[in-house]
Amino acid sequence: MRSEGYGRRHAPDPQRPALGRRGRHLHRPIGVVMADIEVSMNDLSRGMQHDRDALIRAATLVIDSGYAIHGAQHAAFERELADYLEVSDAVGVASGTDALELAIKAVMPDGRDVVVTAGNAGAYTSTATVRAGYTPRYADVDPDSLCLTAATVAPVLDARVGVVVVTHLYGRMTDLSELRSLCDASGTALIEDCAQAIGAGTPGRRAGSVGHAGTLSFYPTKNLGAIGDGGAVVTTSPEIAARLRQLRQYGWGSKYNATISGGVNSRLDEMQAAFLRVRLPQVDGLNARRREIIARYAAAAANVDPDVMSVLTALDDGHTGHLAAARSTDREAVRARLRAHGVASDVHFPIPDWEQPAFAEYAPSTPLPETVRACSQVFSLPLFPELREDEIAAVCDAIRSLA
Ligand SMILES: Cc1ncc(COP(=O)(O)O)c(C=O)c1O
Repeated sequence: MRSEGYGRRHAPDPQRPALGRRGRHLHRPIGVVMADIEVSMNDLSRGMQHDRDALIRAATLVIDSGYAIHGAQHAAFERELADYLEVSDAVGVASGTDALELAIKAVMPDGRDVVVTAGNAGAYTSTATVRAGYTPRYADVDPDSLCLTAATVAPVLDARVGVVVVTHLYGRMTDLSELRSLCDASGTALIEDCAQAIGAGTPGRRAGSVGHAGTLSFYPTKNLGAIGDGGAVVTTSPEIAARLRQLRQYGWGSKYNATISGGVNSRLDEMQAAFLRVRLPQVDGLNARRREIIARYAAAAANVDPDVMSVLTALDDGHTGHLAAARSTDREAVRARLRAHGVASDVHFPIPDWEQPAFAEYAPSTPLPETVRACSQVFSLPLFPELREDEIAAVCDAIRSLA
């Protein structure tokens, strides 16, 4: 796998395994016979090679246009993304975390200051909430969907809560009808974190179109990945979109005149927009391929004791198959056995937000057992659309060996 020059990313990315040159994993169990094949969690070079000519044409268009920021490519991408997700507006920003921060700022009702979220979704919402100047509060997740529901959110709602952020975890669009009603009844805004769920849902009810706003990340490993960082907020409200367009550019109402506070510089650049236009039309097909691979893993696990390992299936179209998530009551032992068969794995996400020192002060006063259980049991198998047949077969063989 190519190294990726992360620029401003200094810490290891949680969605990314520790990889050496050519995808070899740096951490091997000692004293285990290694398999012939090595299947890594991701290999971005394959998708880049697949799209190479179109990406070069897109880059050439940008260079020849003379626009680096907010030119024709960016405008076209915002329109195409909004049309694809069946919303009125898409607002390009610099990352998925910025999308969360700006969406929270754009929808937070006056006089409120708490954002309710889940603690098993990578802490992106906690980061964005604190950056926006508000306080995260955690609700438990449903044991099946691993997402917030109306039943889990209701106990933590009070007059301070202004926003609920629900993450469509691993790419499955979770059912939001009751949660949206609960939020409406309490004057609370609902944001969908769709960073893992672009294209999830059904026509007329796409992930990102049910809440007041939906946020997207175009981080390179995402189902719609840029060649660098990028993100967007989508909404069915032109008023919220107008606020977001101000917030992403210094709070400007017009040039050099900041008319709302909380503005930042967070723009999706023209080159990334051009690359994303190449890839957006491929998303549905690539999501289908991801689902197909997950189905193969699930079939291979059919005879494995579910306590040892079960694969979280992704059968419906409402699922983007972002990650091939699995569960085990003895996760590290199972991961070691898979590794001995040459199969990488990773954990999304191992530490509840409030157990991370940066968010310890927001620790919940009552236990959230399903969140804690998910963080201790769930792990991810290799999954990207360009996985080869021999690699998929090797993962399936490794899973079957657990029976
Ligand atoms: C669920 C979720 N939300 C938000 C983000 C943040 O996106 P970014 O890395 O573009 O800031 C990510 C991934 O990185 C994610 O998986």
